[in-house]
Parts: sequence; C-alpha cells; structure tokens
Amino acid sequence: MRIAVVGSGYVGLVAGACFADLGHDVIVVDNDQQKLAALRNGDVPIHEKFLPELLSRHRGQRLQFSDDLKEAARVSSAIFVAVGTPPTESGEADLSYVESVAREISGGIEDYKVIVEKSTVPVYTSEWIRKIILRNGTDPDLFDVASNPEFLREGTAVTDFMFPDRIVTGCDSPRAAEVLRQVYLPLTDGSYYSRADAIPQPDRAQIPPPIIVTSTKSAELIKHASNAFLAMKISFINAVASVCESVGADVNQVVHGIGTDSRIGPRFLNPGIGYGGSCFPKDIMAFRSVAREFGYDFRLLDEVMKINEDQRQRFVRKVHHALWTLRGKHLGVLGLAFKGGTDDIRESPALAIVQLLLQEGSKIAAYDPAAMDRTREILKNGITFANSAYDAARDADALLILTEWEEFANLDLARLRGELKYPIVIDGRNLYDPEMMAAQGFTYYSVGRAASHPDGVPAAVSKNGKKA
Ligand code: UDX
Repeated sequence: MRIAVVGSGYVGLVAGACFADLGHDVIVVDNDQQKLAALRNGDVPIHEKFLPELLSRHRGQRLQFSDDLKEAARVSSAIFVAVGTPPTESGEADLSYVESVAREISGGIEDYKVIVEKSTVPVYTSEWIRKIILRNGTDPDLFDVASNPEFLREGTAVTDFMFPDRIVTGCDSPRAAEVLRQVYLPLTDGSYYSRADAIPQPDRAQIPPPIIVTSTKSAELIKHASNAFLAMKISFINAVASVCESVGADVNQVVHGIGTDSRIGPRFLNPGIGYGGSCFPKDIMAFRSVAREFGYDFRLLDEVMKINEDQRQRFVRKVHHALWTLRGKHLGVLGLAFKGGTDDIRESPALAIVQLLLQEGSKIAAYDPAAMDRTREILKNGITFANSAYDAARDADALLILTEWEEFANLDLARLRGELKYPIVIDGRNLYDPEMMAAQGFTYYSVGRAASHPDGVPAAVSKNGKKA
C-alpha cells in the first residue's frame, strides 16, 4: 500500500519507518527543509531503539522524505496526520497544524483516500477535518476521515508499534475500516512476526495483536482516556505513597499487595517524582478542556495534575529534611530526562526539581546517559555536567536520583560512597532497597518508604517506636 505520513516528529517518524518495515511504500512529509535534508542524509534525530536500523534499512527505497504534501497525498491511499498539537495557554490542543494539513490535502484527492488522525487530538477533530476538506471542494465520496491513535512510549516506540496490545481503528465507514485493516494486516495475520529480520519480540507481547474497530469519535476518546487513566494511576500511587510516609508504611509493599489484584495490575504503579514527557501533561490538560467544552467538569483530572505537581515540591522538602539549608550545597544529580531510556527533557520532573534546587542556590553536578546535551541548551548557571554517576557524586553533600535509568539501579555502592562527601542518597524513583542501602553505609531517603540510616534507626520512628 502507498502511505503518506505527515509530520516527521516522534510519532510520524516512528510510524513511517514501521509502516515501511511492514512492506508499505511510505512518504514522510515535513515542511522543515533542514530536517528533511538531515533525514535523507541518514541522521536519526531522536534517541529511539531500533529506529536507526529501520531508517537505514528503508531510507531511499520504501521510505522517502518529501516537502510536497499535495503530491504525497495524491499518490497515497492512506494519509496519516502526525503533526504537532501543542497546548495553547489555556491548555487546549492547538489544532492549526492539523487544519492546514487538511486544507492542503484537499487539493490532492483524485481517487478514494482515508485521512487518518495519528496525533492525539480532541474528540471533535475528525469532524473538522472532514468539513475543511469538503469546504475546499473535494467530492465526499472520495475520502473518509479515520482515527488510529498511537500508544507508543518513548524509548520503546518501535517495539510498541510492532507489538501493540491492540490496534484501535476508529472509522465511520466499512471502506475506511478495510483500508486500515490492510495497513496492519502483516501484524494482525502474524506474518510480520515470522520474518527473520522482524524487530525482536518483547516480554508480554500478544501475537498477533487484536484490531479493535470503533467509531471515529470513540477512537479519539480512547487515546485521551487511556493517557488520563495511566496518569491517574501514577498520581494515585503517589498519593498513597504520601500516606505511607505519614504512617510509616512501605509503598512498595502496598504496590505489590494491590498490583497482584488482576483487576488493578502492577504496571504504572511506580511511585516517584511524578509523570512528565510530551504526552501525559499535555493530554490530561487537553482532555480536561475538551470535557469542559462539552459540558462536563472533569475535576478528577485537576486532582491528578495537582498531585503530580506536589510530588516535586515534596521531593525538594525531602532534600531540605536531609540537608537543612541548600544555599551553596553541592548536589550530585542522576537523571535529567523525563524517564529512563530517552534523551527527552520535555516537561521533565527531574529538570523541574533541578531548577527549584538551583533557585535555592545549590550547586549541581548532573549526569544523564542521554539528556545532557539538551539540558545544556537551557540550563547554564549553577550546573556542571559529569561524565559518569560517580563523577556526579564526587564531593557532593548528597546524591539525588531523579530518572529511572537502568544503570542508576546498578551502581557500585562502595565506590559511590567513596566519592560522596556525605553518604546521603535521596532517591526520587525508589531504585534501591532502604535496608540494603543502610547496610552499605548510606542514609537513604526514597518515596513512600521510611528513610533508612547506617545505624539502623528508621527516620520516621524514634528508638522508642514513637513517630519522630
Ligand atoms: C506515554 C504513554 O505511555 C503512551 O502510551 C503514549 O502514547 C504517550 O505517552 P511516554 O510519555 O513515552 O508514553 O512515557 P511513559 O513511559 O508512559 O511515562 C510517562 C511518565 O510517567 C514518565 O515521566 C515516567 O517516569 C512516569 N511514570 C511512569 C511514573 O512515574 N510511574 C510509573 O509507574 C510509570
């Protein structure tokens, strides 16, 4: 099948490369000439596992890059719209890029095509795209608008695309549903997975994945509701973690106890410094605002956002609790990315905490395996960048863990202790066991668990067992 993907951002580039790997002829369209030149040249603009392999496998063959949207639309049967939908000041999604794509596509529709929303968009967007295309004189029999939301996570985007839990296709006509069925056929009939060069299968993959056909509006809602639910799960466990801290319970034990209930499940219940990234914060606000527009006051989402914001403040209070004053203190920071496995710092809670600490006059030595270059562009004063976790810890008053990179969970603790001025670790991602850290000679603070000390006295409880 011939496919156009409009937008070479995160979703567009990954989807384009993956469609090519499924055997389709793909044109990725963007109006950023520099980006196009870089992509044609073999550059990979994002840090994403398996993407370099897929791009080099298909670039110049089944995968082309172009700035000619009208022509790409003309030769394609399915046009996936994956342009940005940034938040406006009031939190709504700005759909002007989507609108201009719809306008431009209309000129390239000479035979039947499906225009597919891939970006996360509010529930009424498909209707607007349809209206715009009709308004520009296109025959209504020559196109349908469908929604095919993408659930890929950064860092594992290619694997998520090839091994999805489900494929959601929102279509209001059997003809459009058939086009999308054909697009995903190599996944749903399992043929992709038997190929020798297929992307390696992750744990828990459901093969072949089911395809769910819904109305276009339901599919649009599925995306917002999924992200809101996951963010709610994170805020829920962070709220529970705060209660655990007050009463002296252990949130990890609570997670184990509730996550084993198959109705709840253990995933997305890791407490920490809150969620960030380019999706959750933006999508929760957009969902909140679209609900309001249609007369429902979705206050639950306000609380999800508020708890998320509070987690950062609580963490900074923990740093105060461990170190008293912060002016002039040297802090080692592990992690700047919004989560492990990515160089993305958009809405990163780690970065927000670093900024709060800098405002208080701390001196920061930060290390992140991938996100330092991006951070360097926006943070200049008070921060230095280290070459390793141990380098960041050198002579620091305390070490802060802010991103859940795997390498931060496997540090040589004896070496780390030797580097630090004081053996204090404040862990915003619960990567270590408090008792083990105490046994290794650290004073260790984490989220939703009592602090532990080398002398074995839990911080929240004094020697006589009363709360301190
Ligand atoms: C998310 C959705 O998971 C994905 O389906 C959607 O398409 C895009 O948004 P992503 O933003 O890449 O993906 O990251 P995700 O892995 O979901 O993590 C989001 C944030 O939540 C990160 O800051 C992460 O550290 C945090 N998180 C996640 C937690 O704090 N606890 C958890 O248990 C899980």
